[in-house]
Amino acid sequence: MNGNEYVRTEVSGAVATVTIDRQAKLNALNPEVIAEIDAAFAGLRDDADVRAAILTGAGDKAFVAGADIGVLADMGTITGTEVSRAGQDVLRRIERFPKPVIAAVGGYALGGGCELALACHLRIASARARFGLPEVGLGIIPGYGGTVRLARLVGLGRAAELILTGDMIDGARAAEIGLANMVVPHAELTDRARKVAGRIAGNAPVAVRMALASLYGAVENTMDHALSFEATLFGLLASTDDMKEGMAAFLEKRKAVFRGA
Ligand code: COA
Repeated sequence: MNGNEYVRTEVSGAVATVTIDRQAKLNALNPEVIAEIDAAFAGLRDDADVRAAILTGAGDKAFVAGADIGVLADMGTITGTEVSRAGQDVLRRIERFPKPVIAAVGGYALGGGCELALACHLRIASARARFGLPEVGLGIIPGYGGTVRLARLVGLGRAAELILTGDMIDGARAAEIGLANMVVPHAELTDRARKVAGRIAGNAPVAVRMALASLYGAVENTMDHALSFEATLFGLLASTDDMKEGMAAFLEKRKAVFRGA
């Protein structure tokens, strides 16, 4: 186990778990926590043994209850923009992490915490999860990509409802609107996140990485550009040993053994 003050990383098999642990403040994101999350993912990026990651919050109350309001309270015009850009950059690096990242949300995912979950590739909620973007009640707006990613994920109308009211929704409602991929009983959250991560980790790693690149390329580009990008990635995968192995294993009725090349 690697650790620093607020974020610890554990690797079990091919799955890394990054846990934010600042329970006295419901895992709220101060600059140190954000830097430690960034460092945790940087440390896993080139570890070929890690094929998927889970991001979660310590304790039974919160995933992350938001950016640290005590820190935000001191912002001015310039520092506010810097705070937003700095947080956006870290979350963008998680979104561009080359292996799937699953947010396991078992409590409050508010403000920056909800935005952090949105930057992950999948979200698994427990029945105790509470998602919300309460920023307008504090005189600000979501500034870590929330207005951008939520609209893309759940549609403009639902995003507007959540962001303009600031209301919280539970895990079941989050799953209903596509904000969470699934909702599970609280006691099963860790197991389920590990199971999903394990399923992903069992697939061909380069193909999984290219699938992520193509999916996000599709959302961020025009149709023609996205289709051409998909075809290029498809062609690249045809040169991998894992493609040969995956297809040979199917034809030979055995389980494929992928090497990530
Ligand atoms: N920033 C800083 N501190 C926070 C925080 C945040 N986003 N969220 C919670 N905390 C702190 C509280 O101030 C409190 O600290 P204290 O014990 O030193 O006073 C501690 O975490 C526990 O929170 P508390 O409010 O006592 O828990 P609760 O169960 O009564 O309420 C919440 C839980 C999540 C409803 C409430 O903490 C809350 O509304 N938090 C702010 C959420 C928010 O607006 N986030 C978006 C920020 S942009």
